[in-house]
Amino acid sequence: MNKWRGVVGGLVMLASLALVAGFWIRMQPDVHIGELLAKNNCDVCHDLTRAKQTEKGPYLWGIVNRPAGSVDFPYSGPFMDRIRENPLIWTEENLERFVTNPVAIIPQIQMAQHTSEHPLAFEGMESPTNRRDLIAWLKTLH
Ligand code: HEC
Repeated sequence: MNKWRGVVGGLVMLASLALVAGFWIRMQPDVHIGELLAKNNCDVCHDLTRAKQTEKGPYLWGIVNRPAGSVDFPYSGPFMDRIRENPLIWTEENLERFVTNPVAIIPQIQMAQHTSEHPLAFEGMESPTNRRDLIAWLKTLH
C-alpha cells in the first residue's frame, strides 16, 4: 500500500516538473523564429544586415533603443511631423506597440500604405508570441 503511494507520488511529481519545464520553454523567446519572421515581413523593405542600406526603408541594424528618424533616409512628412512633435526611442516596448499596429504609433506612416510605387505594406503582426520572437531577434542586430 505504502509502496504504491510512493510510486504514484513520484509520478505526479515528474508530471508536474514536465509541465513546468514545458511552460518555461514556451515563455522563452525563440530568436530563430524571430529571424524567419523578420525575413518574411520586414526584409522586403528594410536592410537587416550591418551593410546598413537604405534603398527602400531605413535599415534596422541597431534598431533597439535607437532614436526614431535618426538614419539618413528620406522619411515621409507624416513620420517626421510625428517625431518632431513627440520624439520617440525604439525601446522594446515601443517596438512591440509599433509592430502590433504601426499606424497607432505613427498615423499615415509610409510603411503601412499601399501605393503604386510600394504595393507592399506592413499593417501589423497579430500574434504576441511572434512579436516577442521578432523583437528578440531584432535585439541581436548590433
Ligand atoms: C512595405 C515596406 C515595409 C515593410 C514590409 C516594413 N517596413 Fe518598416 N518602414 C518602411 C518605411 C518606408 C519606413 C519609413 C516610414 C516613413 O518614412 O513614413 C519604415 C520605418 C520603420 C521603422 C522606424 C525606423 C526609424 O529609423 O525610425 C521601424 C522600427 C520599422 N519600420 C520596423 C519594421 C519592422 C520590424 C518590419 C517587419 C515586421 C517592417 N518595418 C516592415 C517600410 C516597410
